[in-house]
This record gives sequence, C-alpha cells and structure tokens, in this order.
Amino acid sequence: MKILVTGGAGYIGSHTVCALLKQGDEVVIVDNLCNSKIEVLKRIEKICGKTPTFYQISVQDEVKLDEVFSNEHVDAIIHFAGLKSVGESVLKPDLYYSNNVGSSEVLIKLMKKHHVKNIVFSSSATVYGTPKRVPLYESDPIGGCTNPYGETKVVIEKMLQEEAKKDPSLNVAILRYFNPIGAHPSGLIGEDPQGIPNNLMPYITQVACKKLECLNVFGNDYDTVDGTGVRDYIHVMDLADGHLAALNKLYQNPGLVIYNLGTGKGTSVLELIHAFEKANNLIIPYVIKPRRPGDIATSYANADKAYQEMKWKAKYNIIDCCKDAWNWQKNNPNGYN
Ligand code: NAD
Ligand code: UD1
Repeated sequence: MKILVTGGAGYIGSHTVCALLKQGDEVVIVDNLCNSKIEVLKRIEKICGKTPTFYQISVQDEVKLDEVFSNEHVDAIIHFAGLKSVGESVLKPDLYYSNNVGSSEVLIKLMKKHHVKNIVFSSSATVYGTPKRVPLYESDPIGGCTNPYGETKVVIEKMLQEEAKKDPSLNVAILRYFNPIGAHPSGLIGEDPQGIPNNLMPYITQVACKKLECLNVFGNDYDTVDGTGVRDYIHVMDLADGHLAALNKLYQNPGLVIYNLGTGKGTSVLELIHAFEKANNLIIPYVIKPRRPGDIATSYANADKAYQEMKWKAKYNIIDCCKDAWNWQKNNPNGYN
C-alpha cells in the first residue's frame, strides 16, 4: 500500500514511517519541518534501508498538497502534522487553530477530491479534559479541555466524524494517544524537543545527560499513590504498531472507529524517575515544586477496545521505555543537530 504520512518527520511520525517501510508499504511524507529536522530522513534510511518520498510543504498549502495527491495516488493517510505544545497554544490560540484545524480542513477536502477513503488521525487523551473517572474509555465524554491545543483535537475529531457520517464509504480511525515516550531501539531516531522540554521524559533524559541540572516535580499533593501525577506512558514503538493495526482495520471498511492507544497502566512521576534510575543505573536529582497549572492528577487508558477490535496491545514495559529513551539521548545529546 502507499501511505501519505503528514508530519512524518516528527517524533511519532518517524517511528511509524519505519514500521510502515518495514512491513513493505510505500511512504510519502509531507512535513514542513516546523518542528523536525531533515536529518531524520537519513536516519530512517539507515534503519530501514529505504528512503520515503519527501515533500517539504505545509498541509495548509492546498495548491502544493493537491499536486502531491495528483502525483502519488495514495491508498491511505496518517495525519500526524500539527503543533502540540500546550503552553504555546495558550499564548497563540489562533496559530493552533489555523495550523491544526486549518490543515485538517485542507487535507479532508483534498482526500475527498482524490477519492482517498482511509485516514488515521492523531488525537490525544487530552480530549477527555479532566476525567471524572479512570480508566478512560473511548465512550467517555470529550471536550472541556483547559487549552486550545486540546480543543483543536476535539474540533478535528468532530470534523472527521461528520465526514464519516456523510460518506459511508469513508474509513476514519481516530487514535487517542496517551503519553508516548521512548525511542527506536537503534538509538537513531527519537524525540527532539526544541529548547527546554515541557514533557517529563525528555526532561529526565536531559537531566541524565547533565544538560539540565535537576528535575522539577510538579506537585506531590495529588490524590495518587505517592502524591505525584499519574499517566499512562506508552512506548513510541508500540504506538507506531498501533497505526499499522489501525490501517489494517480501515482496509476492512469499518467506517468510523475510535481507539485509545495506551497501556492501561498508570505510573506516577516518582515511579517513572525510579524506573529510569533502575533501568540505566543513574541518579536523577529532583525537587518538588508547586503543581503545574492545567495538570490533572491521573490519566490512564482502558485499552481493551483496541485489543478486541484490532488485536493491538502494548508490548513494551516502562523499563524498556526508560532504556530506549536514554539510549537515544546519550547517543544524540543535541538531538538531530
Ligand atoms: P512532532 O512535533 O514531533 O511531529 C509533528 C510534525 O508535524 C513535525 O515534524 C512538524 O514539522 C509537522 N507539522 C506541523 N504542522 C505542519 C503543517 N502545517 N504542515 C506540515 N507539517 C507540519 O509531534 P509528535 O509528538 O510526533 O506528534 C504527532 C501528532 O500526535 C501530533 O498531531 C500531536 O498533536 C499528536 N499527539 C502527540 C502526543 C505526544 O505526546 N507526542 C500525544 C498525543 C497526541
Ligand atoms: C502534556 C499535555 C497534554 C499533551 C501531552 C503530550 C499539559 C497540561 N498537558 O500531558 O495535553 O497531550 O503532554 O505528551 O501540558 N511533570 C513534572 N515535571 C516536568 C514535566 C512534567 O513533574 O518537568 C509531570 C506532570 O505534572 C505530569 C507528568 O509529569 O504529572 C507528565 O507530564 P507531561 O509529560 O507534560 O504530560 P501530560 O501532562 O500528561
């Protein structure tokens, strides 16, 4: 099959591209490199022995994207492209709406024009807002996000659901990722945040390699096992596999499907720090700081539906995640630079 991967040069996209190439699919990446580096393509080639076709364009650029559709005749789309910084989205909500929602509008318009019937969309557990209970099920209410980033995901999910309703021949998989961490076991590709990381695992790995002095733990007074925030950390290799499973599902013409991609298991901040220390025989200095505004206490998935309907479940454990995250960071202390 030939798959158009928007945002395929990014963190999750690059791992998924490797998984697609490995199973013999052809890959066409569309990425404007606003949050990724061209070097990732060389790394993908090193891992897979093949290079994906690459277009450095914005998904918002309808004219150029139209040409890509005309040239490539793809069978399916995986739509990763988007901006993902929660803090930045609060400061620049218009940018988030225009980039994330605007590019999805263009993509949907062109996929209809070119009769592409299969699309996988990168959504997020953030669409559940502040959970009333955990684990989170796909049927739980969505919306009420505390930030524009999350709202763009809710809006795009709704747009895709409307399209699926209008056209029964359209197949849409909405994947709600929990907290992706880790890296390809080769250490050649991984997460490469610009500036000081916002997310926990890249912060830990940068403390481990002494780029940052000390980890700030945001709050130890939550109603959780040890007072620190609990999340469902999922290895990016498992997440990549989840996209292959979703494509297989779409080829059976299911219409609209929605899956949580998580492990079903919660891990606290302190548990993750200790797992990282154990996995890599390192010490991570940390201090307890006040809660981060907008954070929730606990979020983890019920991931049964993905297993029942796609036979997908996470295989890597938290120690694997910590080893692979560190392997990437220590081999690439400055990311792709
Ligand atoms: P990433 O920033 O590493 O990758 C996104 C890619 O999209 C980047 O390469 C960027 O250059 C590209 N891009 C952004 N806007 C574009 C545009 N208009 N046109 C073309 N390319 C564009 O992020 P990621 O972590 O790989 O996330 C991928 C997707 O998964 C995003 O949609 C994100 O919101 C979603 N997601 C990520 C997480 C996470 O924790 N990483 C969690 C849930 C959902
Ligand atoms: C954050 C986003 C979420 C997004 C996800 C992508 C917020 C409020 N939420 O989720 O919308 O989908 O990233 O992965 O930003 N922590 C620390 N110290 C740090 C960093 C984090 O203690 O330096 C804690 C947090 O308080 C939280 C946990 O670690 O309890 C995980 O944080 P993070 O990696 O940022 O992910 P989320 O908050 O789940």
